[in-house]
Amino acid sequence: MVLICPVCARTGTAEQPEQPLVDHNGGLGCARGHHFDRAKQGYVNLIVGSNPHPGDTPAMVQARCRVHQAGVFEPVHTWLNAQSRGGIVDIGAGPGEYLGSATHADWRIALDSSTAALRVCAKQSGVQAYGGDLMRPLPIATAAADTVWSVFAPRPMREVVRILKPGGIALMIIPRANHLGELREKLPAMLKVPTGKATRVITQASAQGLHLVTQGKIERTQVVLPETATDLVGMGPTAFHMGVDDIEAGLGPHPIPVTIAMDVFTFEHGAR
Ligand SMILES: C[S@@+](CC[C@H](N)C(=O)[O-])C[C@H]1O[C@@H](n2cnc3c(N)ncnc32)[C@H](O)[C@@H]1O
Ligand SMILES: [Zn+2]
Repeated sequence: MVLICPVCARTGTAEQPEQPLVDHNGGLGCARGHHFDRAKQGYVNLIVGSNPHPGDTPAMVQARCRVHQAGVFEPVHTWLNAQSRGGIVDIGAGPGEYLGSATHADWRIALDSSTAALRVCAKQSGVQAYGGDLMRPLPIATAAADTVWSVFAPRPMREVVRILKPGGIALMIIPRANHLGELREKLPAMLKVPTGKATRVITQASAQGLHLVTQGKIERTQVVLPETATDLVGMGPTAFHMGVDDIEAGLGPHPIPVTIAMDVFTFEHGAR
């Protein structure tokens, strides 16, 4: 059992514990009669009621897909795949490019609140895509996952710990201050990485019983086409307050060196 009913999870008690979700009428259902339709694109939305955190827009998702296709994040694929084991839950998976390449996994579940992301993610071979709000209890059974990923995504530490098996690992990736630094020089309105973020992640993880096993960094500078530079900005949070035309105008029409720089953490559940 990996997926649980999000309606029952909200009212779960010792007498009425987590209810597994199983295939039901083309979608998913629990034994207490709650049913979730499968969208024609293949994902199942497990967000109950309204979706207060709708996540990335269609334009952001398309930009992210193009950047992934341009190979900019190859080292991230390599790192994630080298560390991961067993069944993987990717929280805030976006279009699921990373999960799509994790072909060695026992199973691969993507959670995201963005409909646009879920539509793409559901097409990744071998990936199950589900609508989930990371600010609420996750529709994943307790101690179900061997590996949880959070890559440039929210980190609901308490829920990460709950869904991990004892000894399971959480792989988390956050931007470093110099991530996309060359683009930020040209576009001062781009959002900055807050200082002290890495320390905060470690403190928050440790407070929930996730122990730091390794901390490293991925850093690479490469020359990218101007359209890829625009997409690198357009796929991120800056796109919530700046249009593509302004991004393009600020970055200019020429190929440009771009540094990707990330802190990468492996945490273990209950290791020490
Ligand atoms: C910066 S993107 C990263 C996507 C993917 N991990 C990657 O690196 O390619 C962050 C993702 O988190 C999702 N997201 C943001 N807030 C969320 C929430 N409250 N619940 C679920 N997903 C959320 C967004 O829709 C988006 O797909
Ligand atoms: Zn239910």
